[in-house]
Amino acid sequence: MNQKKNYHFNTKVIHAAQSSGDWHGATLPPIFQTASHLHPTAENLSQTFAGKTTDHVYMRLTNPTNRILEEKLSALEGGKGAVAMSSGMAAITNTCMALLRAGDEFVTGNSLFMSTYLLFTNVFKKYGITARLVESVDYDAIENSINSKTRFVYLETIGNPKMDIPDLALVAEIAHKHGLPLVIDNTLATPYLCRPIELGVDVVIHSTTKYLSGHGDAMGGVVIDAGSFPWPEERFPDFQPFIDRKGPLALLDKVWREHHINFGTTQAPFHAYLTMIGLDTLALRMERHMDNTLKVADYLREKPEVKWVNYPGSKDHPSHNIAEKQFEDKGFGGMLTFGLKDQAACFQFIDNLRMIYHLANLGDCKTLVIHPYSSQYVSFDDDTRRSLSITADMIRLSVGIEAVSDICNDLGQSLDRLQ
Ligand SMILES: Cc1ncc(COP(=O)(O)O)c(C=O)c1O
Repeated sequence: MNQKKNYHFNTKVIHAAQSSGDWHGATLPPIFQTASHLHPTAENLSQTFAGKTTDHVYMRLTNPTNRILEEKLSALEGGKGAVAMSSGMAAITNTCMALLRAGDEFVTGNSLFMSTYLLFTNVFKKYGITARLVESVDYDAIENSINSKTRFVYLETIGNPKMDIPDLALVAEIAHKHGLPLVIDNTLATPYLCRPIELGVDVVIHSTTKYLSGHGDAMGGVVIDAGSFPWPEERFPDFQPFIDRKGPLALLDKVWREHHINFGTTQAPFHAYLTMIGLDTLALRMERHMDNTLKVADYLREKPEVKWVNYPGSKDHPSHNIAEKQFEDKGFGGMLTFGLKDQAACFQFIDNLRMIYHLANLGDCKTLVIHPYSSQYVSFDDDTRRSLSITADMIRLSVGIEAVSDICNDLGQSLDRLQ
């Protein structure tokens, strides 16, 4: 087991939490398709409900297949524990709700995924919670937005779709100076590219629907606790019972006990199984995604119809240098945005494509395209869209792992036919 801890990431991604001995020799995780579990004695069930065993009771609470996924993802991120949930949004909602009380505030970036933005600004507002939005890379603005009501700082490793990359070690330092945890959505980077906990981050969230499962077949989310934040009494007076029960995993216990099991945000074990099958090839896929994206960005930059390309892999991108440092020269992610003349050109471009899929997802092994302004953000007013850098001329491309020449050829034939 200890030896496994020292494995290279590319090995760990396959072997972490594998336990074929307990799986009757099976090399793939078993799917425990059962709503409830038998208990040998009344005492055992009582102890389990009291949190004194790790036995399973009921699928809404825990499931053995999901637990394998939780162990794998926690190992890959270098966490102390994890809870898998039904979607990335479930993981974000439950984590933030566990941290917040009515009247609280938190500081976050203005380059958030669309549903996260709506949750933070519209839904939480109903409960008197204020999300203070600043530029994710404006460290003075982050610090200046912290006050006595702030409970955490929340950012995305790579903003979707703004593609800005905050310096996580620096933001963690700022948050910790004020007695606050830093929560990071690491969906676009994946632990292959970035392990935020190693940079001082306290809580890591993923939509596993994206690169981690990688095939557009499974929905899921996960929250991973570094287990190192001390939850000081003055900022977090409601954490004591959870600290008493679970010590360093107080937040994870609060997320699970207060929200996940009561909101019923359970991940179906079949989705956990599919995610684990996908995970086996994460390292290979990420290498190819990122290699292809660098080449696609270069290709697009040469096309006269393309007005601009936004990819941190470009040397002149404002986040290029921090990406190089933070991602240790492994790459810059598998997504980019680019601009055409206007919305009509974007529509025509999408309709002209022959191979690339037009759909609302990212991180699939297939190349995917979307016009965010007219789809996910269609009901947003123009001022809000502008503040989130969602423009009518913008195409978002999640570059897949196909032969890059085929991806470029499809993009090229579509661009060539623009009128
Ligand atoms: C960065 C990011 N976080 C969270 C989510 C939400 O994940 P899910 O769709 O699994 O709820 C998404 C979805 O696109 C995303 O891109």
